[in-house]
Amino acid sequence: MTQDSHIKPNERRLFIKSYGCQMNVYDSGRMADVLGPHGFESVGGAEEADMIILNTCHIREKASEKVYSELGRLRALKDQRARAGKDTIIAVAGCVAQAEGEEIMARAPIVDMVFGPQTYHRLPEMVARVDQGETRVLDTDFPVEDKFDNLSAVGSPKNVAAFLTIQEGCDKFCTFCVVPYTRGAEFSRPLPRVLDEAQRLVAGGARELTLLGQNVNAYHGDNGKGGITGLGDLCRQLSEIEGLERIRYTTSHPRDMDDSLIEAHRDLPKLMPYLHLPIQSGSNTVLQAMNRQHDTKTYVELVERIRAARPDIALSSDFIVGFPGETDQDFEDTLALVREVTYAQAYSFKYSPRPGTPGADMETQVDEAVKSERLARLQSLLNEQQIAFNAACKGTRMSVLYEKPGRFEGQLIGRSPYLQSVHVEAPEHFIGTLEEVEIVDVKPNSLTGHRSGAAKEPAKATVHGA
Ligand code: 5AD
Ligand code: SF4
Repeated sequence: MTQDSHIKPNERRLFIKSYGCQMNVYDSGRMADVLGPHGFESVGGAEEADMIILNTCHIREKASEKVYSELGRLRALKDQRARAGKDTIIAVAGCVAQAEGEEIMARAPIVDMVFGPQTYHRLPEMVARVDQGETRVLDTDFPVEDKFDNLSAVGSPKNVAAFLTIQEGCDKFCTFCVVPYTRGAEFSRPLPRVLDEAQRLVAGGARELTLLGQNVNAYHGDNGKGGITGLGDLCRQLSEIEGLERIRYTTSHPRDMDDSLIEAHRDLPKLMPYLHLPIQSGSNTVLQAMNRQHDTKTYVELVERIRAARPDIALSSDFIVGFPGETDQDFEDTLALVREVTYAQAYSFKYSPRPGTPGADMETQVDEAVKSERLARLQSLLNEQQIAFNAACKGTRMSVLYEKPGRFEGQLIGRSPYLQSVHVEAPEHFIGTLEEVEIVDVKPNSLTGHRSGAAKEPAKATVHGA
């Protein structure tokens, strides 16, 4: 009997709840793609779903506790549906699943299926096993086969701004981070596959691509001709795709920001002048304890080189406060670094010990109250910088890629080159096009733009970047 004979076509509804990063949002989309041909239609809520997948994130906070409390809620739902004669498959996916698969199975009997980020291409097979009566399907391998190989034929983009995973995993082993354990060793997708997927996304309407990877600028894809291609060169090749207007990538490690990538920022108008380049701390002692493999001097010099190549580039970063051993002076050094570099936007977090990482076993853990106080001070400084960056945009002209309708009739929401949301009064058929607008108002988290030639038709696909 074939696997497909167990599948009831177009009969089941699928709800995926995504936690955490863009990588997970991308993965959730691919899970829906994989299950689509097997009769699963995506719906917007758990109540109506025959299969519910929690695509979890383990990077910070009490991720697993959140998952267990969500599973508690889902138990009631599953029972209620069972009384009405309906089956519900409950699956836990993503990094919590990878890290705690067995434990989830033991603690949450309602869970039918647990699978990690490397095995979701096997979902149809897992569903078939549940359909056949297996109740506890666990697949948290790091398979040798490339999951992306199994996904290459699927994916129908509906978004003007699409994500494309080019790299996964990480070999850096920062001492606070679970990624090397949950996502595994660094892996780059081969160049021809990345280019194919990019072409397909653009043919489907994407005008902006964000290349994703936990350590995206470590990208070193097999070019299919016996050589290796880095991220700078990949951006050059993507830049040739007609109809693709904007390229972004995230998240980068300072150590992997090579000359070729910096030159790509200098040369390619489609490569947006916005770079997320996490430093994590402004103290060299802390950076060393974090095993970041860079110090503040090399970071600041790197920023100078990037700014020399692309003067209008805006920077973003991640920061962790209260890493074990962080002193008041270390924290002051972080504030000083932020003042020196100046960020357009940034994320900051209190250190949270992740079991199994070296940081969790360090004896010099920082008091929660101290972490909270430092976080508040850092966020207030970063906020000030973000407000100043946005304020400086007022009165300037910026290209906006219209992505979707706004909250009000006749309004569209687009993005500036610097990833700011821009609200503009424009007709709906402008979605998917770029237009230069004047920024007339600024708020902390969004801008308002005015079209000058309001009667004009949208700019054609030849308008570039900023
Ligand atoms: N505690 C706090 N923040 C963390 N991050 C990663 N691991 C931890 C942790 N254990 C933050 C880092 C990283 C971002 C994605 O999440 O700043 O760059
Ligand atoms: Fe984690 Fe990024 Fe460090 Fe890799 S480089 S271990 S993903 S923080």
